[in-house]
Parts: sequence; C-alpha cells; structure tokens
Amino acid sequence: MSQGKFYKKIVCIGAGYVGGPTMTVIANKCPDYKVTVVDISQPRIDAWNSDNLPIFEPGLKDRVERSRGKNLFFSTEVDKEIDEADIIFVSVNTPTKTFGEGAGKAADLQFVEKTARRIKEISRSNKIVIEKSTLPVRSAETLEKILHSGKNSVQFEILSNPEFMAEGTGINDMENPDRILIGSKDTPSGLAARDELVKIYAHWVPKEKVLTTNLWSSELSKLVSNAFLAQRISSINSISAVCEATEADVQEVAYSVGKDSRIGEKFLMAGVGFGGSCFRKDILNLVYLCEHYQLNEVAEFWKQVVTINDYQIERFVKRILRSMFNTLVGKKIAVFGFAFKPDTGDTRDTPAISICRRLLEEKAQLSITDPHALENAKKDLAGLAGVEFEPDPYKAVKGAHCIASLTAWKQFQKLDYQKIFDAMEKPAFIFDGRNHLDHQKLFDIGFNVYPVGKPALLHF
Ligand SMILES: NC(=O)c1ccc[n+]([C@@H]2O[C@H](COP(=O)([O-])OP(=O)(O)OC[C@H]3O[C@@H](n4cnc5c(N)ncnc54)[C@H](O)[C@@H]3O)[C@@H](O)[C@H]2O)c1
Repeated sequence: MSQGKFYKKIVCIGAGYVGGPTMTVIANKCPDYKVTVVDISQPRIDAWNSDNLPIFEPGLKDRVERSRGKNLFFSTEVDKEIDEADIIFVSVNTPTKTFGEGAGKAADLQFVEKTARRIKEISRSNKIVIEKSTLPVRSAETLEKILHSGKNSVQFEILSNPEFMAEGTGINDMENPDRILIGSKDTPSGLAARDELVKIYAHWVPKEKVLTTNLWSSELSKLVSNAFLAQRISSINSISAVCEATEADVQEVAYSVGKDSRIGEKFLMAGVGFGGSCFRKDILNLVYLCEHYQLNEVAEFWKQVVTINDYQIERFVKRILRSMFNTLVGKKIAVFGFAFKPDTGDTRDTPAISICRRLLEEKAQLSITDPHALENAKKDLAGLAGVEFEPDPYKAVKGAHCIASLTAWKQFQKLDYQKIFDAMEKPAFIFDGRNHLDHQKLFDIGFNVYPVGKPALLHF
C-alpha cells in the first residue's frame, strides 16, 4: 500500500511500556515510515500526546518530542489505523491467567485474540502481523488460524519479534540492542515478510545483530531469556541465605564467581528478589508449557526459581521482625523505594508489594517514599490501613524505627544519613534489601545495618 510521502505505514496495537517506547525509537530511526501507536485506553493515548507521558523511562520524553506529529502518532482510532497499515505490531498485555484452566501459570491471551479478530474484521489489504508481546510457543499458529478464518481473502504473514528491552534502560536497550530476534515461516511469503522487518531494523542495528529463526524458536527464546535472567537472581539469592548463615559475604562470593568468564558478572546482585511484569509471568508460562508436554521434571526445575524469589521476600521480612525484638506492632518503618527497580515508576509484581503487606500484617506503620512510583504504590496498597505515601524521604523517616531499602534508586544513595539518623527512633535499624548503600558509613553514624547476604553491622 502506498502511504504518500512514507515508504510504509506501521501501526502498533498497545501503547504500554513496550509499545510506546519501541515505536518511538522506530519512528526516530526510520523517518521514511509513518508509525502510529493505538490503544483502547483514551487516558493513555491522551498522556502520550501530552507533556506528561504515561510512563517514566529515562530519555523517552526527548525521543517522543523528536518525532511526535512528524512520523509518530498516538491514537485511539484502532480500526482506521489497522485498515491503513502495512505492518502491524501487536504489543498488548499478556498477563498470567487468574481464572479457569491454567490459572496462576498460563498466559491470558484474551487481549491478543481480541486484537487478532479486530485485525481480521477490519483489514482490506495484505498485512504483516508481528508478535511483539511475549507469547506462549506456537501462538503464531493460533493467530494465523484466527486471521485466516472466514471469507476474508486478505493475506496475513505472521512474524515473531519479541522485545528484550529492560525498563529503566529501555531507550539504550532499543537504540543499541544486544540482538534483534525475528522468527518467521520458512516459506517465500514468510521470508519476504521477515525481510521487510529486517529492513526496518537495518536503519540502525548492525546486520550481525539481527538474528532470524523459525517462529517457535523465536517465541521460546523470549521465555527462556527471562527464565535464565531470573534464574541467576534466584541462584545468587539462594546463596545469600547461605552467606547469612555462615558469615560469608555474598558480594565477595558473587564477584569471585562472576570473574569466571564462563559465568560472567551480570545479574548476580543479591537482593529482595526480582519483580516487574515479566519474570514471574514468563517463567510460569514456561512451567505451564512444560507441564502441557508432560515434562514434569523440567517444570519443577523452573518453578523453583519463583519459589526462591518468594522465599527471599519472606526471609527479608522475618529478618526485620527478628532483629527488631520480634515485634513490629506500632513501629514506624520508612520504606525506601517501591518500584521494582530504579529508573522506572513501574510497580507491577514489585517485591515491595508483598513486603509491605507482610509488614502491615505485623501491624507496623509504613511511610513509603519513591521518586517516581508513589502513584502506582497508592493503587497497589489501596484500602490498607497504616500506610502513608511521602515524596520526601526526610519526612518519611521522622520518628521511624527502621528503614527498609527496597529499590536501588541513586537518589537514596545521596541522602544525608546523619540527618536521617537524627530524626529516627533509637536504636535505628536499616535493612538494605538492595545492598546499594554505604554500610560502613551508616554503621559509623550509629545505624544497626542489615545488608542481604552479609554479616550485619551491629552496635549491640
Ligand atoms: N514491560 C516490559 O518491560 C516488557 C519487556 C518485554 C516484553 N514485554 C511484553 O510486551 C507485552 C506488553 O507489555 P507492556 O508492559 O507494554 O503492557 P502494558 O499493560 O503496559 O500495555 C499494554 C497495552 O495494550 C492495550 N490493549 C489491550 N488490549 C487492546 C486492544 N484490544 N486494542 C488496543 N489496545 C489494547 C492496553 O490498554 C495497554 O495500554 C507483554 O506481552 C509483555 O510480556 C514487556
């Protein structure tokens, strides 16, 4: 389809954490393509069209402003944009199913299916449909069946192009990706569609970084990548428990182990566990897949990654309870950080949710502070008594018995901890759930310091 001054028209369905930023980068890098991101949520689209973007991601605002209104558009006119598009990215949410068969493990594919049906209804010209969402293996087959059902003679070619960007470093991840993965069918039309997508990435990604595979390998690789990343976190977290029991230091162990080039240094930071919308969801999806194929031992292996994550969260809470004389009733705890990682306001599946709920069960009073995640935190803990949300960390610590550090925001590293110590009840405790603060300095100020997987520094 000719698109006037543009070579092709791209539409992305789903203007979330993935759809918005990925399409912004494509629009920045490919001025010869018209890129429109559509969503059923009017408030989300309004925010994308405003100065107050719906998500916080370093560098994103500047990139949006560079292309918005030129070749980057945000719209709720889903049908019109589907009709006019040559290339459709599907980037809708695929949460874990909470009901019926596979509840708690399988991906809830209702949003993907609705999208596919809409594309089938509306399309009057051939289109390339690209899975950008993370989907179970062989989803492309389902999409194909839906798209080619009924009387519509339009041809759809399905590709898998999973997104590997990480929130907080999303822009750099997309501008300088480790790899781009494209799965396609091995048919002439499948390969031609793949080449169209390669052409887009060729605007900025070196050829050798664009990997092409069959559809199922591409779909599975995304689940496996997240499973491997989460597995490393659970591995080092399991060792942090051993360190606490033996007075070894998990950071020293991780450093020594990571220096082995076969192992590598990344993703070996012990802490209160992984979070975010993807790791738990994608591992459980992999577990469900294994169970479906009766690979029960494999399913058990991957399930354990999630079990250790839950264990680590519970261990952290128990350590606070035990260290603070076995009662938290009425004690004020300043929670430093609620986002699942720094440089994002995203709180989906953040360990902070479970930790705060557990502390509230122990009847603690919480004052939560976070530079970008307080609005989401309010929604996550809505209806719970004993919580306040305080943008100023110096106010959050006033009269507090302890600080629970849950997100490694740089802002927290730069605070005046003498001033904080002076404002707190004594003895003052700090539980550094991300091992990112200067423990010796905190101890010298007077804090009792509890890092993860390291000996505590105590004044008594
Ligand atoms: N968040 C991440 O870091 C990340 C990274 C890689 C991959 N992924 C995957 O990408 C996918 C999207 O994730 P996300 O974090 O962007 O989700 P999200 O919830 O932020 O965004 C999804 C958007 O899709 C919209 N939507 C749902 N159904 C629709 C429909 N029928 N028509 C139009 N819009 C519709 C929703 O309104 C929402 O705005 C998921 O499969 C996720 O697993 C996420």
